[in-house]
Amino acid sequence: MPDFQQPSVDGEQLEARYAFAKRVALAAAQRAMGFYTRRSSLIVEHKGSDLQDVVSIADQNVEAFIRGELAMHFPDDGIVGEEGGSGGLQARCIWVIDPIDGTACFLNGLHNWCVSIGLLVDGEPLLGAIADPNHGELFHGFVGHGAFVNDMPLQAHGARQVREGLVGVGTTHRPGKENFLPFISRLLEEGGMFVRNGSGALMTAYVAAGRLIGYYETHLKSWDCLAGLVLVREAGGRSSDFLRGDGLLGGNPYLVAAPGVYEQLAAMIGPSLDAP
Ligand code: IPD
Ligand code: CA
Ligand code: CA
Repeated sequence: MPDFQQPSVDGEQLEARYAFAKRVALAAAQRAMGFYTRRSSLIVEHKGSDLQDVVSIADQNVEAFIRGELAMHFPDDGIVGEEGGSGGLQARCIWVIDPIDGTACFLNGLHNWCVSIGLLVDGEPLLGAIADPNHGELFHGFVGHGAFVNDMPLQAHGARQVREGLVGVGTTHRPGKENFLPFISRLLEEGGMFVRNGSGALMTAYVAAGRLIGYYETHLKSWDCLAGLVLVREAGGRSSDFLRGDGLLGGNPYLVAAPGVYEQLAAMIGPSLDAP
């Protein structure tokens, strides 16, 4: 709980942060697009020994831009960013940012990538903005105010069975990947079908938009999904308890889904979804 030294966060200050998230996500996405159009000249580095875990100057430059805007407008807020680490975590307002979600797509010329900016207030996801410049879509939401793509309200799918729609899936080489194929197998057995587009933030936004009936990832980091969690909840969807334990800094398994199929999908994943 915040102590008496913490500044208050009233409605007006949250509205200002919501406007900020949308504006900066759009500006950051345009900046990323500048790199995307000349991606063949970018030097690609690998994070650790996993050759699939890539990063370029584009990710670093875009995150530095977002951090600069934050320092200018909300210098006392905390931050968790994929490329630059975390700081100020004692603050009531903590920004959770992924400068480019879908980096492998970005570097390979596939259009599934976005900028994701979310805000936690007192430990709860409060607002989020996800900008996809390839499709001209800004997904955004604010707890109690709804979720939108551009100006259009979002609503989760009305499916009651997994065979009624598409389920987004994803995995990495991190622990948890052993749960991936058993899930796919069960999904197919029950008449479902899967897609993997390579951006956890976008697949989460698509669940909020009713384009996907669910999205399961064996292990995600908070910057991949924090902004999207707000959208899913505001659109009437359900999510697993992603922030439990060390979720904010270490990540967790992740499921978001339309309310009518959440339990069916969770049963296909089994206890690993909520394991400590
Ligand atoms: C990745 C994407 C991908 C998911 C990975 C993430 P990045 O983020 O969201 O869809 O499968 O778990 O790490 O590395 O492109 O920011
Ligand atoms: Ca990511
Ligand atoms: Ca990223």
